[in-house]
Amino acid sequence: MKVLGVETSCDETAVAVVEFEKGHIGVLSNVVSSQVKLHAKYGGVVPHLASREHAKNIGHVFEQALAEADVTNFAEQIDAIAVTHGPGLGPSLIIGIAFAKTLAFKYKKPLIDVNHLDGHIHSNWLKDKLLNAFPALCVVVSGGHTELVLMRDHGKYKLIGETLDDAIGEAFDKAARLLGLGYPGGPAISKLAEHGIPEHYPLPSPMINAKNYNFSYSGLKTALLYLLRDIGKIDQQQKADIAASFQKAAIDVVVSKAKRAAKQYNVMSIMLSGGVSANISLRERLQTVSKDLSIPFFCPDMKYTTDNAAMIALAGAFTHEHSKTKNLSYKRIKMEPNLSLSH
Ligand code: KG4
Ligand code: ZN
Repeated sequence: MKVLGVETSCDETAVAVVEFEKGHIGVLSNVVSSQVKLHAKYGGVVPHLASREHAKNIGHVFEQALAEADVTNFAEQIDAIAVTHGPGLGPSLIIGIAFAKTLAFKYKKPLIDVNHLDGHIHSNWLKDKLLNAFPALCVVVSGGHTELVLMRDHGKYKLIGETLDDAIGEAFDKAARLLGLGYPGGPAISKLAEHGIPEHYPLPSPMINAKNYNFSYSGLKTALLYLLRDIGKIDQQQKADIAASFQKAAIDVVVSKAKRAAKQYNVMSIMLSGGVSANISLRERLQTVSKDLSIPFFCPDMKYTTDNAAMIALAGAFTHEHSKTKNLSYKRIKMEPNLSLSH
């Protein structure tokens, strides 16, 4: 089957066509129009501006995705439409949902609602070969989420831990802003951190010793704010040391909790995803954890780490297949679309 994916949950307008046949997954097109430049001057995503940009761009992005996938007859060549229904920014989500629903109505195609996190998790299958090593511990880390999810099968999820306040990517973005590094902050901090000494500045890893799998990142951001206030003027090397110390403090908690969860739930693999999965240090450290536990470690290709519609189309394809063959009564990721959620 060929599935058209639509993703507009935050500041990326994305449409993709993915082919899904038994044992074969092919990305026929994956078009992403990023609004990063627009939001950079505000230091974060402004929901009503994002929504307006989605409305302006989605038509062109859709046309380009069809052209690149050689789709000339939508009714004949596309079998289903998958769309992110949440979580995300309400004004942004609504544009993609309305667009996808209109297409489904016009062409009488099934419309598959996809949870954004289900999409990120499936970015791991957008590659040639990946064994289903279940149960898998999914570490979903992005600008809006920090979740540990136990995946027993496609569509069969249990949320075992989540952030109680800021998401890890959000913490990177806020820290970058404090350091005058611009938006988005994750790539800027990790680049600078390569030249710094981690632990040079003691920053807290909140909840690292808590006996649960939840996270909290607002305290780390505040600690950084006070540190910068106490030091005063900083030179380039100090800035790099602070970036490295921040990155380590933020990642330590994820690595420590992932390791504990992987052991407790006896998982067969660890699977990283979400925008922060582009972070090389996090990749390397989770790879080491997997090696210690003698289980495989998976992470998406770099081009599928941040928001895209190929991951949404693929998650939709799996849902569609499973709904035909299995009873979908199992527990899906317990994240309902929260139309007022913003980050
Ligand atoms: O998945 P994504 O595109 O959007 C959400 O669903 O939130 O993730 C974007 C987030 C941003 O917060 C960005 O700063 C972070 O991913 N990010 C990184 C890196 N690259 C992107 N964080 C840390 N290190 C990176 N290399
Ligand atoms: Zn995302």
